[in-house]
Amino acid sequence: KPRLYSGMQPSADSLQAGNYIGALLQWREMQNSYDAFFSVVDLHAITVPQDPAELREKTRRTAAQYIAAGIEPSKSTLYVQSHVRAHAELAWILSTITGFGEAGRMTQFKDKSARYGADSASVGLFTYPVLMAADILLYQSELVPVGDDQKQHVELTRDLAERFNKRFGKTFTVPKAVIQKDTARIYDLQNPTSKMSKSAESDAGVLWLLDDPAKSAKKIMRAVTDTEGSVRYDRENKPGVSNLLTIYAALSGRQVGSIEDEYAGRGYGDFKKGLAEVVVNEFGPVRERVLELLDDPAELDRILAANAARADEVADATLRDVYDKVGLLRRV
Ligand code: TYM
Repeated sequence: KPRLYSGMQPSADSLQAGNYIGALLQWREMQNSYDAFFSVVDLHAITVPQDPAELREKTRRTAAQYIAAGIEPSKSTLYVQSHVRAHAELAWILSTITGFGEAGRMTQFKDKSARYGADSASVGLFTYPVLMAADILLYQSELVPVGDDQKQHVELTRDLAERFNKRFGKTFTVPKAVIQKDTARIYDLQNPTSKMSKSAESDAGVLWLLDDPAKSAKKIMRAVTDTEGSVRYDRENKPGVSNLLTIYAALSGRQVGSIEDEYAGRGYGDFKKGLAEVVVNEFGPVRERVLELLDDPAELDRILAANAARADEVADATLRDVYDKVGLLRRV
């Protein structure tokens, strides 16, 4: 089976609806046809300040959310990035073939470093995409299912793979991003022209996978819409309603058109109530399962360790080849 790779940062207590819809739903589907590797990228998370005890907890919680959402650790390799040392090692090698300007053009770095300020933004934040390239390339991955915001990072990964192959001989599979057109970008409920994000300034527009269902319902009822009053998809002129329609369709497995028909001639209140029900029905069971999994952290850690051992094997083979290709003397 062809390889597939993706990951998420353990940067909050809960994933948000954008992570779930833009990434996890695809992962769950694709794990059946691919040899899939899914990591919790804790080394990426520490590119901005994290509390150590909280980071450990968030890492377990993120893994639990993968499993609760349907990623099966017996089918897919689900592991913690820092458990596999090859990631940091390959990132170093790749950083030596990455241009300074090239890394500086990454829009996510520009956004984040602007937020933290030039001196508080770490060098790790700058080289973040190089570590991401290492994640993907270690496993000879063909496909990388992500949301729209990671597209540029996957492009860089392709460039680095091609550059390395050209300079040192065929070593890496050149991967492709898989971006689901309709759900590539889920927007903030209060600010439907910016993407929903774990690090949003205000919590009011973020739907958390692990939130109390009553709280999620309330957020949906308060979501920004418009004054037209008709449930109709129009991204340009009706960003709020269109975003709610996207979420509704993705979580119910229905077409946007059929939802528009159902709510034709009815107000936004009804539509939002319907959506709240869909969200609660989908997220509720995931939340319960996460709480069960977190009740037995030792078992969770055992699953992660077994999966990391599997990842190690594949990653070590690639890393050894890379070390040989660039001319590092083998320790005998
Ligand atoms: P992260 O943790 O920011 O996001 C995880 C995944 O969720 C997607 N996503 C969204 N999709 C739609 N709408 C949104 N509002 C939304 N917000 C987030 C992201 O596109 C992503 O797919 N750099 C990556 C993690 C990573 C990675 C990798 C991914 C590290 N190594 C290797 C793929 C392959 C990130 O920060 O994801």
